[in-house]
Amino acid sequence: MKVILASDHGGIHLSKEIASLLEELNIEYEDIGCNCADSVDYPDYGIPAAERVASGEFDRGILICGTGIGMSIAANKVKGVRAALVHDVFSAKATREHNDSNMITMGERVIGPGLAREIVKTWIGTDFQGGRHANRIGKVTEYENQ
Ligand code: RB5
Repeated sequence: MKVILASDHGGIHLSKEIASLLEELNIEYEDIGCNCADSVDYPDYGIPAAERVASGEFDRGILICGTGIGMSIAANKVKGVRAALVHDVFSAKATREHNDSNMITMGERVIGPGLAREIVKTWIGTDFQGGRHANRIGKVTEYENQ
């Protein structure tokens, strides 16, 4: 599995924590920044990361900002991306099983590093259930492709 990781200035510390986790888990990843202390705009990192998931270059993407909200709004504008804003382990599992989410977004100002690590581990390790859920995703994709 190849994962792309991105954050704005509001998510930089949590992003580093998640990079360490991906290394511990031996998961191939690319961190596209921001790696910055100065204020930047989350779409400048979230959209390029989402495009690289949509193109198939990466299997999954993890986006972090202050709240996770801006990153989720931006990423979900990219065709083929299903980005889930997740701040609990139950949702991390459910969004893989039901939504086949290919990106998650989290907020560094919302949750701590311990919970974020558990969320990512669960999200990475959970498979899509298909079946009726595939049908529902199909309806979203159909609308997206109109
Ligand atoms: C930056 O201050 C903050 O607005 C951003 O990280 C994010 O939370 C936006 O949704």
